[in-house]
Amino acid sequence: MDKVQALFEAASAVRRHAYAPYSGFAVGAALLTPSGAIFSGANVENAAYPTGICAEAGAISAMIASGERQIAEMLVLGDGAALTTPCGACRQRIREFAGPDAKIHVAGPSGLKATFTLGALLPEAFGPDNLQGN
Ligand code: THU
Repeated sequence: MDKVQALFEAASAVRRHAYAPYSGFAVGAALLTPSGAIFSGANVENAAYPTGICAEAGAISAMIASGERQIAEMLVLGDGAALTTPCGACRQRIREFAGPDAKIHVAGPSGLKATFTLGALLPEAFGPDNLQGN
């Protein structure tokens, strides 16, 4: 199966489990690692609003829990007219495990809407390389 299609299907499936009773905005995220594994996550909101967790953070946690540490591509799926691009904090979370050329796909319930590179979404990012030698 096409990589993007596989990511789309994984994000669609996990999005059904999103816990978003406050915003009503369900998000699913799926990432592909160089080994070919796909990890997914959904947003998990909380009555104490700032404690909520984005879908991307859940997918990254699943990857780390499985012992992998590199994101090759990621897809984020949310509804609405606007693109569900990763929030600023999640761009930084993704940067920890992906380089500027990694593709970040954005989809709606009916399919892919746009593709960016991480470098386009988070230019001149601060990352692990900045701490080399310190
Ligand atoms: N959200 C995500 O999970 N990922 C994004 O990329 C954008 C926003 C969630 C956070 C919150 O639960 C809901 O969407 C509305 O902001």
